Amino acid sequence: MSTESTSLSTDITSRRPVIGVFDSGFGGLTVLRELLQLIPSAHYVYLGDTARLPYGSKSRETIVRYALSSAQFLAAKGADLLVIACNTATALALEDLQVALPIPVVGVVEPGARAARDAAGQQDVRSDDVLVLATSATTQSGAYTRALTALGLNATEKACPLLVPLVEEGWLELPMYKSVALEVLRIYLIEALAQSPGAATLLLGCTHYPLLKPLIETTLKTLRHPMRIIDSANATARAVAELLPRSEEISEGAASCEFYATDSVEKFQRLGSIFLGRELASVQLLDLGG
Ligand code: DGL
Repeated sequence: MSTESTSLSTDITSRRPVIGVFDSGFGGLTVLRELLQLIPSAHYVYLGDTARLPYGSKSRETIVRYALSSAQFLAAKGADLLVIACNTATALALEDLQVALPIPVVGVVEPGARAARDAAGQQDVRSDDVLVLATSATTQSGAYTRALTALGLNATEKACPLLVPLVEEGWLELPMYKSVALEVLRIYLIEALAQSPGAATLLLGCTHYPLLKPLIETTLKTLRHPMRIIDSANATARAVAELLPRSEEISEGAASCEFYATDSVEKFQRLGSIFLGRELASVQLLDLGG
């Protein structure tokens, strides 16, 4: 189903659009960061479903149920458009959300696949082989393989279930912890490259992974397999901008944000500022049930 199947409210040009963004937790803030840069004229309502994180190890039924409750909360908050800033929720629940909601719903998988196609075309040595690192649920869904195959690319998906906890625990900075993260990445990348030795593009298929990019680059260097690393955050923001009226047609104003989290507000503010690259002024606690 295409994102254009439900159209935007017709009064959108006379006021600031409200864009709902959700993720299982903090990772989606890397998408919000790009949205804020590209569409500064909007009001954003961001929900991190931290109480039920991680989604990446759960079943499709559970992920759809969680994603629906987050999406319905944002629709009730007046969202004109919804961004699923989570690869796992996009891979497993995009179509359910598009059917259930009366507003356009944009996921991160198709924009990410398009960014991979563009990157593959820019390689010095052209390669259609794309390596996707993602959560177990995302790789099991095959969503990236379908999206990349439809664009004429060859996909190899590698589940990396230890990466989200490493990011969540902040094991990327201090040398003692960082060495663990580097070793985990080394093992995952050796296994992935054994399956896809010709890959020249590495697609980060999880919104937590952009924080690992410097460590992934270091690891690829030690493996002597440099690759172009891309993520779907910027491409998703561009897909959203394409759905909105041109910015000069939207009434002016600086971007504003409301944040909601379903678990510790203090942790959300602390970790969230690393993902967003700026302070989160205030975060409200939300109970979405189990
Ligand atoms: N942010 C999620 C994603 O992009 C991963 C975190 C989780 O497992 O909940 O897939």
